[in-house]
Amino acid sequence: MRVPAKLNLQLAVGPPRADGYHDLVTVFHAISLFDEITVEHADADSVAVTGEGAEAVPQSDDNLALRAVCALRDTGLTTHGGVRVTITKRIPVAAGLAGGSADAAGALVACNELWDAGLSQQGLCEIAGRVGSDVAFAVVGGTAVGRGRGELLSPALVRASARYQWVLAFADGQLATPDVYKAFDRLAERGRTPSPPELNASLMSALRSGDAKAVGAALSNDLQPAAVSLFPGLRKTLEVGRDLGALGALVSGSGPTCFFLAANASRALDLAAALSGAGVCRSVARATGAVPGATIMTGLT
Ligand code: C5P
Repeated sequence: MRVPAKLNLQLAVGPPRADGYHDLVTVFHAISLFDEITVEHADADSVAVTGEGAEAVPQSDDNLALRAVCALRDTGLTTHGGVRVTITKRIPVAAGLAGGSADAAGALVACNELWDAGLSQQGLCEIAGRVGSDVAFAVVGGTAVGRGRGELLSPALVRASARYQWVLAFADGQLATPDVYKAFDRLAERGRTPSPPELNASLMSALRSGDAKAVGAALSNDLQPAAVSLFPGLRKTLEVGRDLGALGALVSGSGPTCFFLAANASRALDLAAALSGAGVCRSVARATGAVPGATIMTGLT
């Protein structure tokens, strides 16, 4: 399987719920930065992770991909035994790009095939939603609106021909999502109580017309002040990207990756080179979007 990273073009966060999660309205956007996931029959479940940041990924039952395998097995639709999951990471870990969710989505969709479980995309998304807030979107990909914890998806009406050019600035460090939500709650207590989240009409209109300039101007993330408070260097990264002419600049999800929208591919190349030279991040990558979600790449033997 090949499964994409996500950006949140909008992330509007409400007050904490009784279960500790936050109701949100988000616009997910899948980009061309992929992890690869392979599954094979085995006596017992196991996971092996290689690639970018692999040492930080648990190789035990806590691994999100193995949790997805167990969630599918728990449906009772299949009586198959163990699986060996192999993950090659290109999506940085704990970076706000939903890399762990991508791996879970890949394992889920792959086991649905390997075990011939026959679940539809909707059925897979229901299981995915139990595994993690961003897993269902990694199954679906494209550009979609997420509600609830982020797991309730509806399609976003977008200009099909639009291909957005993104530049990603990977930070020298990680942020744990729960810590960022806690910082968000602390900031909200000091300021006003967050109001119920609402979809940004300007962003949706920009996506419908495929107008990159308007999309850039409408990017927003309620978690950004919390992420910047925990990782102050991000303020400078965002500022440098804006000064270099990005159409928009934002922290991705709970951070610390920052992303920038460029007007076209050649501007994206220039922006990536200049950001890299400015020394405001660990490394820089380019990506385009939207791309499809979890995709089967090879035939099963
Ligand atoms: O669902 P997932 O495991 O990706 O969420 C990680 C953590 O992020 C949760 O344990 C919770 O602390 C926080 N979170 C939240 N509200 C959401 C999504 C995530 O508070 N809607």
